[in-house]
Amino acid sequence: MIQRSDFGGFGDVALAFNDGQNIGPYHSSWIFDWLKKLVGPAYGAHVLDLGCGTGTITRYLAEAGFQSVVGVDPDPRMIAVAKRVSLYPLCVCAPTNALPFPDAGLDAVFVHYAFEHFCHDAASIMEVRRVLRDGGILMTVTWPVTGWNKTRNEVIQPFALDDRTPPPYQHLAETGYADLLGDYGFKKVETRRQKTTIYYTMDQARRYMLGSSLLSCVPPERFLEAYRALDKLSAQIADARGIVTRELDVIVDIGRR
Ligand SMILES: C[S@@+](CC[C@H](N)C(=O)[O-])C[C@H]1O[C@@H](n2cnc3c(N)ncnc32)[C@H](O)[C@@H]1O
Repeated sequence: MIQRSDFGGFGDVALAFNDGQNIGPYHSSWIFDWLKKLVGPAYGAHVLDLGCGTGTITRYLAEAGFQSVVGVDPDPRMIAVAKRVSLYPLCVCAPTNALPFPDAGLDAVFVHYAFEHFCHDAASIMEVRRVLRDGGILMTVTWPVTGWNKTRNEVIQPFALDDRTPPPYQHLAETGYADLLGDYGFKKVETRRQKTTIYYTMDQARRYMLGSSLLSCVPPERFLEAYRALDKLSAQIADARGIVTRELDVIVDIGRR
């Protein structure tokens, strides 16, 4: 199976990741509106947030009005935080290639910045197809890593162990997943792309940066140096009022089962 054994390293920074995800409201509510339209008026639509991490987006889905939302993530450390800290307890730990749901029971599978971890694993995709009802929606959300997010990784990299096994997957954040969904047999594939801007205070930007999974590659004796380098970056990217701007070029792909 194509999958990194540490699920991308987010579990090592689960609390910080959760903190970074909870800084503000969801950045692009048009995505939920589109999903609602696609799913139709079915009362109590069953939606799975796959690769839910610490459950923040799962909670946003529920707050957006979906009646029955459950999160699944294969990393138990992310699910532990989802249950205890992020106030969305309806998250469970399960491997993507063995989802704990019956056949054809779900109206939608929503994947928020996690599809890159299993998009090349046919067994996982077959499992997504198994749990979706006929006509059910697979929606993936991603965006290219640009601006200070890219710089953040470059700042952390020198402190990281360089012998870490590279991920066996190709990150398709630059292009989205439309071609792949078609290849896997999803029908009526569509893409929407929209730019969005998020504003952080300098402290919020720093907190967001501390959720980087790349920090899981930094040995403890170099933590402080890495943190200081991120402090410096937060100060550099803030404007005269101390505001940090984050631009996202959000790519949403959908396909029907
Ligand atoms: C960038 S985080 C996104 C978490 C959440 N969707 C969010 O936006 O807050 C990526 C998530 O993918 C999960 N992941 C890694 N490998 C996975 C796999 N094979 N199947 C599903 N999720 C996976 C990680 O554990 C992590 O929680």
